[in-house]
Amino acid sequence: MPRRIRQHVNALSLGHLRAAVEPVPLPPDLPVEIELGCADAAFLFERCEGDPNRVYVGVEIRREMVDRVNRRAAERRMPQVVAVYGNLLVDLGGLFPPASVTLCHINFPDPFFKKSQHKRRFLTPGLLDSLAGILRPGGMLSFQSDVFEVALEALDLLERSAPLFMNDEVPWRFVRRNLFGARSRRERGCEARGLRIWRLRFRRALAPGSRAAFNAPATPPARAGECGP
Ligand SMILES: C[S@@+](CC[C@H](N)C(=O)[O-])C[C@H]1O[C@@H](n2cnc3c(N)ncnc32)[C@H](O)[C@@H]1O
Repeated sequence: MPRRIRQHVNALSLGHLRAAVEPVPLPPDLPVEIELGCADAAFLFERCEGDPNRVYVGVEIRREMVDRVNRRAAERRMPQVVAVYGNLLVDLGGLFPPASVTLCHINFPDPFFKKSQHKRRFLTPGLLDSLAGILRPGGMLSFQSDVFEVALEALDLLERSAPLFMNDEVPWRFVRRNLFGARSRRERGCEARGLRIWRLRFRRALAPGSRAAFNAPATPPARAGECGP
């Protein structure tokens, strides 16, 4: 019987803040797709079935889950799928070389509802900075959550990062559908329960842009009946 893997670890514990990570070896000639907080990597396995000519790397803090994904990749003869240990609060920049990633997925990050636990949410200005460094110019970030508060926080952060990341739809707009032909375990669960899913798709700026606007207050879209700025 498979061993039970715990649901959460504390990413702020010293063990996870100080753990050493190695850069992931990547082939130079294939597009690289990554999922941050991949859990069992169901999403990446399905992506790989659809397009085997890519490399799919899941980053996950639960080491048992990392081992499970890599065992499954060997059993399924899918060497394109790899999971690596990493704490996304600190490690992303150390795992991937600059401008090496074509597409990054953040699927259903833990919401950490309690205010005292918000500091465990890994989508922060710091993570966006690291992500901008490892994504190729024009590379894509896809985000999904069934928790509106979490999705709105992500939207606000990403819109304020402009011109580093630009909304691939229209500013301040969510994406209606899953565009990737693959669903994560959590996504399947949400669909089965009829929950609404909030999706975002942003593109890394083509040229390194000014970051002056990043910490400026957000300029939300004009409400109906108001004039925009
Ligand atoms: C709610 S699960 C979603 C899993 C998967 N993406 C899906 O959609 O089914 C969130 C995952 O993120 C991982 N995670 C949370 N904080 C993390 C961190 N700081 N670094 C790396 N992984 C983290 C958790 O261990 C968990 O596997």
